[in-house]
Amino acid sequence: MSRAVVVVAAGSGTRLGIGDAKAFVPVAGEAMLTRAVRTVLTLAEPTVVVVVAPAARLDECRALVAAVAGPAVDLTAVVTGGADRHASVQAGLDALPDGIEWVGVHDAARCLTPAAQFDAVFTRARETGDGVVPALPVTDTVKRVEGDVVVETVDRSALVGVQTPQVFPLARLRDAYAVAERSETDDAGVYRAAGGTVRTVPGDADAFKITTRWDLARAEALVATRAG
Ligand code: C5P
Repeated sequence: MSRAVVVVAAGSGTRLGIGDAKAFVPVAGEAMLTRAVRTVLTLAEPTVVVVVAPAARLDECRALVAAVAGPAVDLTAVVTGGADRHASVQAGLDALPDGIEWVGVHDAARCLTPAAQFDAVFTRARETGDGVVPALPVTDTVKRVEGDVVVETVDRSALVGVQTPQVFPLARLRDAYAVAERSETDDAGVYRAAGGTVRTVPGDADAFKITTRWDLARAEALVATRAG
């Protein structure tokens, strides 16, 4: 097995305001984490899954992963996350078994990411040997501000919003995390700061991150559409 996905699910979800670890919040009756893990386990190429969970929810997380994995449960592991996403990703990378060449880091909160998006990033990473992230063009007009004063309009033609999974050669991502500044907010930032090249493939609107209650409502509507 040469590839793995680390699903980071140890965030608190404060902005969702539900008072629960976000990845355990149900979307149309099923936890975000269940939905995210199921997608990875249904990929055509067998993929190791490491879930990074809050310390207080490890047993619950193991049960949830076992239920969705079924006979594929030996492809999965659950480990304790850290105080921030950076620490959680590192914990996931540390837990990967030997022999993994390519790793995708995926936010559990992007639980409706289509399987095709996983295939696209892994395929492009193998083709190029580089890090690869899914990206969408920015559609809003973007301003730089100082306080509440607009200073300039930023040229959005050169801007994209990035999603997950973000895929990298594992050895180089581990090295990058070993020297990374914690100010980087995603894996691509960590990888690039260490000198790696990161490319993009087209993202998918369905891979949005559930952060607010509005996002949750949007996710539930999307599940209803898919079911219909
Ligand atoms: O907070 P935010 O939505 O940006 O988190 C993105 C992803 O990182 C989520 O899936 C969340 O569970 C995960 N995370 C984590 N450990 C943390 C903070 C966030 O695994 N300490």
